[in-house]
Amino acid sequence: FTCILALAYSKSVDNNYENEKEDLENYIQNKKNEINHRFRPLYHVAPPVGWMNDPNGFSYHNGEFHLFYQFYPYKSEWGPMHWGHVISSDLVHWKQMPTALLPGTEQCFSGSAISQGDVLTLIYTGRRSIDEQPYFNESQYLAFSDDAVNFYKYEGNPVIPNAPNNAPDFRDPKVWKYGDEYYVIIGSKTSDERGRVLLYKSKDMFDWEFLTVLGESNGSLGYMWECPDFFELDGKFILLMSPQGVSPQGDRYKNSHQTGYIVGSFDYDTFQFIPEVEFQEIDYGHDFYAATTTQANGKRYLLAWFSMWDVPYPEDVDGWAGMMTITRELNLVNNRILMKPVSDMLNLRNEVALKDEVKPGQVHQFGKAVEIIIESDLYNKIDLLLDGQEGGGKVWIRWDPDIGKVVVDRGSGDIRQVEWKPIGSTTWRIFLDSCSLELFCGEGEVVLSSRVYPLGGWRLKNQSPQTIRVEAYNLQRSVPE
Ligand code: FRU
Repeated sequence: FTCILALAYSKSVDNNYENEKEDLENYIQNKKNEINHRFRPLYHVAPPVGWMNDPNGFSYHNGEFHLFYQFYPYKSEWGPMHWGHVISSDLVHWKQMPTALLPGTEQCFSGSAISQGDVLTLIYTGRRSIDEQPYFNESQYLAFSDDAVNFYKYEGNPVIPNAPNNAPDFRDPKVWKYGDEYYVIIGSKTSDERGRVLLYKSKDMFDWEFLTVLGESNGSLGYMWECPDFFELDGKFILLMSPQGVSPQGDRYKNSHQTGYIVGSFDYDTFQFIPEVEFQEIDYGHDFYAATTTQANGKRYLLAWFSMWDVPYPEDVDGWAGMMTITRELNLVNNRILMKPVSDMLNLRNEVALKDEVKPGQVHQFGKAVEIIIESDLYNKIDLLLDGQEGGGKVWIRWDPDIGKVVVDRGSGDIRQVEWKPIGSTTWRIFLDSCSLELFCGEGEVVLSSRVYPLGGWRLKNQSPQTIRVEAYNLQRSVPE
């Protein structure tokens, strides 16, 4: 196989493309100096310059985690898609790598990666403009690397030219290997506009056979399912995806698009996925989309685009836009995914910033990157204001035992809230970075991720009627400036 791979990419080294790559790296190095750092995250992956959306190709290869992302370097807005690239050995400290894929006749839309010995293979959607309606076509493409730095597109692309029903929306392949075979799922839609996920298999990654529709909306789950993922977790199978076009229902589905999962069973003989539990949101905050996972050391890790389509991106005036959430470790308990920050996040703790009781009305100041741990019995109301020492965005976190909901309120009615019935711990772990908040409740059964833009370091004010016990740590930088 490696032999075929070597042939596949040795032929396709293209000098123009190599020159373009070099020019792009020079551009990025120069342009970086123009960035305004006021909202730059200290421990979340963000693009060096320009625009980032979905995480792509999240994988473990030769002892290192690779994370790629939808990237447009030339403006802080979406544009012809590239794949940016960062690597990490602990999912906490990240190193910037050269851009992995540049658009050619195709834009490089979202996809995944698989480690094949010394070769790291990418499978992504090539989106091409066409003259007739619907004006674009989406097909699946391959690219390879034997040093995990320089990637070469396969000459025989595309490897899957069209969806079985020729739906133009046919994107975001997620690949995995089971036994001797490769499987891929791809997001798409039915001809009457219902989101669906298609399953294929292959012996070699080049020739793919369509197997079945793995999952499909009955009409209530949106018109398109983007960025599907499929994996086993604690004995069940999880179909994770980002449906577009789901209508709000009470507290649920209030974001412009959703990300969530269906728990079920799957059989590799029949290729049938049988859902057991209806679609559940995986994160209840304002900004969370296109989540993706990888597996290593027997653990399942997830991260997501810490933003959303069709919302303002206040950092765009600073020369960049979009970032990733911190990495979460997943478990399934009672058919519900629990998300916990990866354990190495503990290594980011610098000094203790506070370890004390905070009385009603008291205020404390922290740095721009801080983890705040709140211990409470939940029998009384909690009302915490988090804002900037120099103004800017504010957010309130609340709990009311009579209502039983955790609330993240960005003011002016911009609220996300969710019922929380602790299954164990009642602690809150709040991760704050220069422009974000991630609240992990209890064992991770409720997580809310929201972007907030305070100026200066963070400030905490206890507005609750009760004294709360707070432990807080300023966090170190773990991503490039
Ligand atoms: C999801 C998405 C994907 C697509 C990519 C394009 O956010 O729309 O479906 O591949 O972004 O950047």
